[in-house]
Amino acid sequence: MKDKIEIGLMGLGVVGVGVENALREKAADFAKQVGAPLVVKRILVRDPSKKRACQPHLLTTNPQHILDDPGIDIVVEVIGGESPAYDYIKEAVSRGKHVVTANKEVIAKHGFELLSLAAEHNVALLYEASAGGGIPLISPLRHDLLANKISAIHAIINGTTNYILTKMALEDIDFTAALREAQELGYAEADPASDVEGIDAAYKLAILAALAFHTQVLLEDVYYEGISRLAARDFRYAKELGYTVKLLAIAKREDNTFQVRVHPTFIPEDLLLAKVNGVFNAVQIDGDLTGRILFYGQGAGALPTSSAILADVIRLAQNMSQGSSPMPRVQMDQTMIAKPISEIETRYYLRMTVADRPGVLAQITRVLGELLISISSVIQKEVDERAQSAEIVIMTHPARERAMQQAVSEMNKLEAVREISNLVRVED
Ligand code: NAP
Ligand code: HSE
Repeated sequence: MKDKIEIGLMGLGVVGVGVENALREKAADFAKQVGAPLVVKRILVRDPSKKRACQPHLLTTNPQHILDDPGIDIVVEVIGGESPAYDYIKEAVSRGKHVVTANKEVIAKHGFELLSLAAEHNVALLYEASAGGGIPLISPLRHDLLANKISAIHAIINGTTNYILTKMALEDIDFTAALREAQELGYAEADPASDVEGIDAAYKLAILAALAFHTQVLLEDVYYEGISRLAARDFRYAKELGYTVKLLAIAKREDNTFQVRVHPTFIPEDLLLAKVNGVFNAVQIDGDLTGRILFYGQGAGALPTSSAILADVIRLAQNMSQGSSPMPRVQMDQTMIAKPISEIETRYYLRMTVADRPGVLAQITRVLGELLISISSVIQKEVDERAQSAEIVIMTHPARERAMQQAVSEMNKLEAVREISNLVRVED
């Protein structure tokens, strides 16, 4: 039994401030839930000259002030990035401290190793905030859905890109204009690469898929593609065909293999996921017992993210104050095999500019036919008479990715094909 639980907070940025504020403002409520007060003993920052609302004597720029302190029971890591956060988490766990982190990059890249290390040292490493911000995802996968065989996850897990795509869809604007607006409003970072290139979503998908399929998912297993190639006209065609465009993170299990991929995706406009707009996130999970379930909410922000972090802290502290052992860990094996993107089968939307003259469509359909790719519909209406070119949009039936990529490469060699503007995967 402990009379107080002491916390070392690493990082006092957007999320750290949310956590520190809540620990002060809700201290009485948390103490009641835990049975002992939660006390922030030290706060690690990089720049000691910044003005902060917390008590100045708590601040340090030396991580050892937290890692060496035997009184600190729980380290909350909200520094972000791989280095030095990975080293700090590793050292904290090795020295018998429980760790709560929001760090998707560290968990996606090193989670399997760090969770094993935590188990070895009989401590917990919890990471609810690493995917989906304030939406409970890790805990349901770790606990409530354990009896299910989960066959698929379809998720919108990056708010920045969902904001941009929503703007493009509703306002008929191109990617660059939508990104600029997102940056002006503070939804997108000055360097938006991790979000718009799909990397942030890839980290989160690796974390969720590992828990859903009880297997190690390497970051290298996750195929990712960003949204910068999408144009306003893709959204117009999508609408005409009954779809909307989302950056979807998809994980599917088939027998002993799994596929994990993040890319712009056409989804039917009547799906619940299609109606998830702005910075909101949503995660759809298919379980054999539950059927389809959907989690929806704010995937980022100081308050939603601190909710996830503090739930982990409170649960850990409850265990500690009651003298129980750390929470059980999901057993993960390494026997499932990741399917490369070239082996997946899906439908495709293909938009290209071609010379507007007899026989061109026949040349294109011949390439697709020879690779056994069946066409489901064709649209040709945008004709540029001066350039004597036309825009063609083709929707295919399910086809192998490898065949589709080969078709694109063959079509690019045709003299009549001026440009393959976009190839987008379709999930029905
Ligand atoms: P942030 O605003 O950039 O804050 C980072 C904090 O860490 C700052 O206090 C910074 O110190 C400190 N720091 C950075 N490098 C350091 C170093 N080498 N040594 C010591 N301290 C260092 O980041 P954030 O947005 O709060 O994100 C933190 C974590 O939460 C990340 O893993 C992120 O992915 C995750 N997350 C964030 C959100 C969100 O909405 N922001 C949502 C979900 C998950 P200074 O204050 O001195 O600069
Ligand atoms: N950059 C992320 C997003 C938030 O746009 O959803 C932090 O995970």
